[in-house]
Amino acid sequence: MTDSSIPKFFEKDRNERLEIVKKFSDLSKEDLDLLENSLGGISFDVADKMIENAIGTFSLPLGIATNFRINEKDYLLPMVIEEPSVVAAASKGAKIARSHGGFTAKVHESFSIGQIQVVDVDVKSAIPKINQSSKEILDLANSKSKTLPKLGKGAKEVNCREISTDSGPMLIVELLIDTGDAMGANVTNTMCEAVAPLVEKITGGNVLLRILSNYATRRIVTASAIFDKEQLGGEKIVENIILAYQFAANDEYRAVTHNKGIMNGTIAVANATGQDSRAIEAAANAYAAKNGRYSSLTKWTKDENGNLVGKIELPLAVGIVGGIINVHPIAKLCIKILNVKSANELACIMAAAGLAQNLSALRALASEGIQKGHMKLHARNLASAAGAKSEQVDKIVQKMVQENNISLNRAKELLNQI
Ligand code: MEV
Repeated sequence: MTDSSIPKFFEKDRNERLEIVKKFSDLSKEDLDLLENSLGGISFDVADKMIENAIGTFSLPLGIATNFRINEKDYLLPMVIEEPSVVAAASKGAKIARSHGGFTAKVHESFSIGQIQVVDVDVKSAIPKINQSSKEILDLANSKSKTLPKLGKGAKEVNCREISTDSGPMLIVELLIDTGDAMGANVTNTMCEAVAPLVEKITGGNVLLRILSNYATRRIVTASAIFDKEQLGGEKIVENIILAYQFAANDEYRAVTHNKGIMNGTIAVANATGQDSRAIEAAANAYAAKNGRYSSLTKWTKDENGNLVGKIELPLAVGIVGGIINVHPIAKLCIKILNVKSANELACIMAAAGLAQNLSALRALASEGIQKGHMKLHARNLASAAGAKSEQVDKIVQKMVQENNISLNRAKELLNQI
């Protein structure tokens, strides 16, 4: 089974959905057992080793977005998110993109940036000295990784920048490190710390900070797709989506919400696959302001046939080995569900998820508004919160939607009447 467009996936029960994912991603019986019985994946013992002062674990829903086709390969996307509508919206956006071939995505470079702050230094004379010693610095950095240099990866470049501050000029030495399929925060920090004494010796200055930059501008991903005008609902809706985009492109207050919607897609996949979501969001938001003004991470135009064309560009520092993936069995399983073979492939998927999400949000906002769909899903939460059993939920939701009275109180009243 290789086709991710699965009709009425949302109407199937859990076992049917699991069976489809099992076939699609070639999951084993043990994988299914894990999904069904592990209550979210990690034991207290594991949690206790992951963070300090642990007192328990905390579960979130794991859903599957269907219809994704990216660079001519089909994917079922695992998404971990607490917000209703997101999985449905991603699936819908991906469905519309499919009829014109799905998403085309690309990672332009994959260098992690490590920063070494040098103070009490004559910056002008230090820069050429660093440049002359770059091989020595890179060799020392690479001696700290057993695996990366063997793979032809590791520290590749040393760059210098001068910054002026209220405390005087500073030299920032940056290591560009190809961290392969790892997000690479640890190896980047290790390399920066390792070369710091050498940098002090070369420059005669004092090194203060030695740390990864989360502003991953050397790990830029782009994704694009064509969305058919008829499937979107006609020419008018295409025009309205472009107008909605222009609002975000030219107004920070709207752009933050617009980009938040993109993050709904990107971060849900990040959560499922055990990525550092704080790093991703911090970088995405800085990138949104790269031209001096916070703006949209996506661009929406139309092509010569009047179809909508969407593009997204953002930094994504992600990994499929190391970190939480080593300890969280569900994160590991989500990588298996995606069947990704490299960190770059995962980054392409996360960018496409963001674009699909943005399309669906703009389409709803520029037509009937998001509340109709949203409230229906919210009603499901309220019905369960009121104590309804799964077989009672649909009835209560239907009634609340019909009455246009979606509230916990009404859900409780209706439950009592059943
Ligand atoms: C809600 O989580 C996300 C939206 O607000 C995004 C947007 O406004 O574009 C619907």
